[in-house]
Amino acid sequence: MRHFQRATRGKSARMSAYRYSAIALLLIAASGCASSQSSSPNLDLRAEEVGTTVAQATAKGLRGAERVGFILDKMTTAEKLGQLNQMAGGRQIALNSRITDAERDRVRTGGVGSYLHVAGAEFLGDLQHVAVEDSRNGIPLLFAMDVVHGYRTIFPVPLGIAATFDVDDAELAARVAAVEASAAGLHWTFAPMVDIARDARWGRIVEGAGEEPFFGSAMARAQVHGYQGEDLKRPDTIIATAKHFGAYGAGTGGRDYDSADISERTLMDVYLPPFRAAAEEGAASFMVAFNDIGGVPTTANKALVNGLLRGQWDYDGLIVSDWNSVPELLNHGVAETRSEAGALALVASVDMEMTSGIYAADMLEAVEASPALEAALDAATKRVLMAKDRLGLFDAPYAYHDPAREAAAMLTPDHRAAARHVAERSMVLLRNDAGMLPLKPQPGKVAVIGALAGDARSMIGSWKAQGREEDVVTVVEALRKRLGEEFVVYEPGAGTRDVADPAAIAKAVTAAEAADVVLLITGEDYNMSGEARSRSDIGLPAPQKALAEAILATGKPVVTVLMTGRPLDISPLDSDDASILLAWFPGVEAGPAIINVLFGDAVPAGRLPASFPRRTGQSPYFIGHNPTGRPADVDLSKDSARYMDIPITPAYAFGHGLSYATFEYTNLRLSSDTLAPSDTVSIGVDITNTSITNADEVVQLYTRDPVAQVARPQQELRGFARVHIDAGKTKHVTFTLRPEQFAYFAPSARFEADAGRIDFAIGAGAADIRLAGSFQVTGHVIADGPAAAIATSVSISEE
Ligand code: BGC
Repeated sequence: MRHFQRATRGKSARMSAYRYSAIALLLIAASGCASSQSSSPNLDLRAEEVGTTVAQATAKGLRGAERVGFILDKMTTAEKLGQLNQMAGGRQIALNSRITDAERDRVRTGGVGSYLHVAGAEFLGDLQHVAVEDSRNGIPLLFAMDVVHGYRTIFPVPLGIAATFDVDDAELAARVAAVEASAAGLHWTFAPMVDIARDARWGRIVEGAGEEPFFGSAMARAQVHGYQGEDLKRPDTIIATAKHFGAYGAGTGGRDYDSADISERTLMDVYLPPFRAAAEEGAASFMVAFNDIGGVPTTANKALVNGLLRGQWDYDGLIVSDWNSVPELLNHGVAETRSEAGALALVASVDMEMTSGIYAADMLEAVEASPALEAALDAATKRVLMAKDRLGLFDAPYAYHDPAREAAAMLTPDHRAAARHVAERSMVLLRNDAGMLPLKPQPGKVAVIGALAGDARSMIGSWKAQGREEDVVTVVEALRKRLGEEFVVYEPGAGTRDVADPAAIAKAVTAAEAADVVLLITGEDYNMSGEARSRSDIGLPAPQKALAEAILATGKPVVTVLMTGRPLDISPLDSDDASILLAWFPGVEAGPAIINVLFGDAVPAGRLPASFPRRTGQSPYFIGHNPTGRPADVDLSKDSARYMDIPITPAYAFGHGLSYATFEYTNLRLSSDTLAPSDTVSIGVDITNTSITNADEVVQLYTRDPVAQVARPQQELRGFARVHIDAGKTKHVTFTLRPEQFAYFAPSARFEADAGRIDFAIGAGAADIRLAGSFQVTGHVIADGPAAAIATSVSISEE
């Protein structure tokens, strides 16, 4: 790649005192060299003093940890605190807006180690020059941003990506995002969010992979690998951040930022496994959560962060706070002053402090007075420097700042094709009772109803990075292109927020009545899920509900396309003859992807990564709950663990998703009825496509430990595979498991798998089990980590 050409941009005025003195010293050294050989020891000494600290270390031939150690030794306490300081260089909607002359001075004096909410190869290249050439130590800056489901080429929201049930799709989306973001000068993304989310009220459920820890672990690994590639030193890779470490998704009542009052077992077996998987995959960064677990904010949780993550898991990556989460320790009521808050976080091993400036502004005296804080500061600074080293920034600080690369990388045809591919694969056919889908190639006149159909902003979801509305192909545009203008009429009818306008709804009804087929595009808008977007009612927004009811009442054939970032109560749409395609927020290729699936050019095979409750009051609903002493019973005359006013099942369970094809599961094979410690067991099944449509099937393996020291979940996913099977063909799918995969956090505070029976079930969804069996684990096993973080090996072969 071409490197940044600083000279061409005439920035010589920035040449600093350090560089002048370095050149002067070099001249003196050269003249001394000519006069006498015996002065060489002095020359070496002078060479050491020449240039920035980084330049000195590099000139000495030091690399990696040795170079970092050399730099660390030369840093003042204030400079170390500066390295831990991450400032907002802008806001999500106004990138770079805070990079003023005063900020550049902060860089020159070593008062900052990283910026977030910044972008642009050239702009950030200029700033990097200030850090590398105009500061005493010459330490490059880290540039960070929330690149969550694409940078310029926007993919489906993460919950949609998860719904592909395909780790390759998740990896592809992250890879494309990394290629674009790195070209725009970014080194570091705050993604993937790997928080388990079991409560659909929580708005941030949209940002993760849903409810299931084994599934979340697989998606975490794939995304980390996509962002970071094989080698972070390659300039098209970026650091991934597993966030928000702890139990951010377990906030009480589904409220964002709220306390997680969960058991240690739930923390260990459910919330932490995706983090463990991300750490094992080499995620170079972690972010701690805003919220507390049982009263201990994770930002100050020394036992969890320093003890478990650093100590037991041996994690030596860069840990960053969340936005302002260090000063918020005062609001939590666990610190009285800013410097107390900073000390708690630093000792907990939170290396970098995001946005408040506490470490740099309030900690100097405290650190100078405390050897323990000083040691924590050294360790944190070392980890920040090592992150920069892992990216190769000490040797190639401008590798991410080539404007030509940036111009060429964005929204390429390949990237668009990838976004469409993933979007098509993310869609979940919730029901197709009247068999209306796929649509006929010439369906006649189609009425597209609902403001979301033309809402380009919503199609790209809440974390849009540099995505632009004008890049989006909407549903209306894609359909007009396919069928011709004369066959498509569009009536918004109602938006998502205003009070429904009866006149607009009446117009939509008239349009529907005059059409052969109605496409009702309904759901939430992009800003109803995401951070601080928890809802007490997960029903359709009122105007959407009013519109949907009016359209369904026409009796016309209606196909519903649901846009949402969370599971919704869709009871108003859910009639016995409904056809409902769940599209999430699909990204820049929303329109073509939805239309391709509706017409059968792409056959839906997405699956739900989070169960859809029937009503808000059923939240949190998840398949992995414990059985209780009185398990839920359909018979209302029995006293059991259920609500009396709705069925015991969810509307749609985890793993649910239909196809235009049909599949038969046969020939269950078990390699052995027993599984000994250090052995494996294989479970095989044949899947036959019994239809005339080539399609994908998502085969899912669930297990259950029926008798253990503690109650164990009713269903735990332990394997899944999205398999393409041509019409009439059969494929063999085999999952191989080891005993550690049945371990749980036992009363001993260790992960134990007991000897005894394990039940398993294979099917097309948690509520669509086709075959089942069991085997015996023959000996007790102690595992070194949570079972859900362990990957299952899957093999797929043809007939
Ligand atoms: C969010 C993080 C995000 C950070 C920086 C916070 O409010 O919780 O997920 O990475 O802001 O934008």
